[in-house]
Amino acid sequence: MAFAIKVNGTTHSIDVDGDTPLLWVLRDVLGMTGTKFGCGKALCGACTVHIDGVAARSCVAPIDSVGTAEITTIEAIGATPVGGKIQKAWLDREVVQCGYCQSGQIMSASALLASNPHPTDSDIDAAMSGNICRCGTYLRIREAIKQAAR
Ligand code: FES
Ligand code: FES
Repeated sequence: MAFAIKVNGTTHSIDVDGDTPLLWVLRDVLGMTGTKFGCGKALCGACTVHIDGVAARSCVAPIDSVGTAEITTIEAIGATPVGGKIQKAWLDREVVQCGYCQSGQIMSASALLASNPHPTDSDIDAAMSGNICRCGTYLRIREAIKQAAR
């Protein structure tokens, strides 16, 4: 079935089954491999993108639910004011270890700061609680979000 989806400001025509997860469309059809597959069950956050500015798990978002929504991925988040600040803070704080979870972490953190420019520790913990990091970078993530918020 044909769909037209808008990703990072560009409209793409794709032909996939309607229940195909957005994650597979991004990675396998459009070749945007910055968004990662972790669990496939909305449990780890590795696949987080923005759908109309809201952090969403692309592994459980069927393509026929996306409609005309604006999708933003890790490939473009650095071009947004908040995303640029988050990525700079990530580098300054040397947040990344293996890196596998980090595109999802950055997408969740960017959505948080876009909606709440001065989050408290509990705001940060609540917003980031669905993003799992096997390398345990949680403390540096929190510090980087605070830096980006200053
Ligand atoms: S891969 Fe989507 S939440 Fe884990
Ligand atoms: S940096 Fe390795 S899983 Fe998070």
